[in-house]
Amino acid sequence: MRLKNKVAIVTGSAKGIGEAIVRDFVNEGAKVIISDILEAEGQALEEELQKKGYSVYFFKTDVSSEKNIQELVKFTVEKFGTINILCNNAAVNIPGSVIELTEDIWNKTMDVNVKSHFLVSKHVIPVMQKAGGGSIVNTASANSFVAEPRLSAYVASKGAILMLTRAMALDFAKDNIRVNCICPGWVDTTFNDAHAELFGGREAVLKDLASVQPIGRPIAPMEIAKIATFLASDDSSCMTGSPVIADGGITAGV
Ligand SMILES: NC(=O)c1ccc[n+]([C@@H]2O[C@H](COP(=O)([O-])OP(=O)(O)OC[C@H]3O[C@@H](n4cnc5c(N)ncnc54)[C@H](O)[C@@H]3O)[C@@H](O)[C@H]2O)c1
Repeated sequence: MRLKNKVAIVTGSAKGIGEAIVRDFVNEGAKVIISDILEAEGQALEEELQKKGYSVYFFKTDVSSEKNIQELVKFTVEKFGTINILCNNAAVNIPGSVIELTEDIWNKTMDVNVKSHFLVSKHVIPVMQKAGGGSIVNTASANSFVAEPRLSAYVASKGAILMLTRAMALDFAKDNIRVNCICPGWVDTTFNDAHAELFGGREAVLKDLASVQPIGRPIAPMEIAKIATFLASDDSSCMTGSPVIADGGITAGV
């Protein structure tokens, strides 16, 4: 029970890696707000976990809307009294080179992937300051270090999150708020499907995965969730501003 009675918000957590984080957090004793634009999936997860006796609520949130984010923070404090952990996890992955991308796609990518980390943190940090500290786990990527063809907006967004993590770590260390980021490789969710379509489809990419991800298999969402739990807990108490690379070897060499 490494997160006993800690209060956590996990954005983009109705499915995929976020859902796995929610499941591991409640298992470790945390009270969790599931936050996503996907209402049916979020409510189903809330219902399943509440039936098992866990303290969870779903709150529908678009992380690109400051008004929605303020409502999310208010809801969390009303339900659980404080916030100790924030996982900025929601993102979109819309493929394309700069001549294929539209301005709207660029803006959406930056809003959902980067501005969200800024705005959710902006509204959560004052609550953490009042609580005497906290842990923020941002979601960067192997793409924070290495690019991929036809993925410009996404790659740029993940590069930004790495440096935002470091900047936030410097600003709030004095408040006992740690800020780290996880940098996953190819994780087994539907997130990469649209990009994979440009390269022969998901099955073709998986067949050849070892050529980019040396472990030769997709990473399971729960493998990433375990790292989020480590970063959220006191087990990582001396870490702040750190990218934790969990990429099956993608960035190890050429
Ligand atoms: N899957 C991978 O290979 C991989 C690799 C590196 C990093 N990541 C990162 O991990 C995180 C989770 O990815 P995933 O693989 O679980 O993807 P996913 O598509 O399964 O989950 C993303 C979630 O974010 C939600 N979301 C999207 N836009 C939103 C918005 N505006 N407001 C609120 N929620 C929104 C989606 O509804 C979805 O539930 C992302 O930050 C992604 O960049 C994933």
